[in-house]
Amino acid sequence: MNTKGDLNIYETSGELFGAAARLILTLAKKAVDERQQFSIALSGGNTPGQLYALLAGPPFLNEMPWRKTFVFWGDERCVPLDDARNNAMQARSVLLDKVPVPPQNVHRIPVNLSPKEAAAVYEKEVKEFFAGAVPAFDLILLGLGENGHTASIFPETPVVSEQAIGIRHVFVEEQGMFRVTMTAPLINLANHILFLVTGKEKAGILETVLTAPYQPASFPAQLIQPRDGVLHWFADKQAAR
Ligand code: 6PG
Repeated sequence: MNTKGDLNIYETSGELFGAAARLILTLAKKAVDERQQFSIALSGGNTPGQLYALLAGPPFLNEMPWRKTFVFWGDERCVPLDDARNNAMQARSVLLDKVPVPPQNVHRIPVNLSPKEAAAVYEKEVKEFFAGAVPAFDLILLGLGENGHTASIFPETPVVSEQAIGIRHVFVEEQGMFRVTMTAPLINLANHILFLVTGKEKAGILETVLTAPYQPASFPAQLIQPRDGVLHWFADKQAAR
């Protein structure tokens, strides 16, 4: 069991996404009550699509403080902005085009630039958003890759040992693709971090990440240890077998 994380197991992925949506609503309302804003970093890949669709409909469509919600991404693939593999493209079509988040509150990673420039520009944008204060997102969503990566922190890549609080670009050999990602130190500043893990193909890696000795080069998801925040693991029964 992850020393700082609580593992919540759900009978089905549907129940998991329902619980995730309710947690997001709770955290959003609390953040807006306290600081008049809710900052969330979305994850990509296949897992969160159902969650985003849920958030785009009642009751979340009506109850979320969308106008005071600020949307970022934990990582992005360096593919055209209109490419189906683009995480922002996915979230826009399933969620952001359907809820009243002001367009200026949506901060896409500018992968129309070179990977290096996109990382530099986005790091500046994140730091400006927090106006020089500690860049502590209210919530960061994360997925878990079968090889133990999270965001775009892939095994045996330089970004695993990156100590800077920021945004870096990385070439992912097995995908033949550049990606842009938050570093683990930036992710670990978040007030809440929520891993969403579903499906039997994730059962092995989930157990390894949560119970194996600390080997972040092999299992980068083990880097995620919030400094002051709360780490939530949501897994369905298939993944938590
Ligand atoms: C991405 C994600 C990545 C994802 C994992 C799990 O850009 O792909 O940010 O970290 O969360 O690869 O992906 P699945 O949800 O598709 O299994």
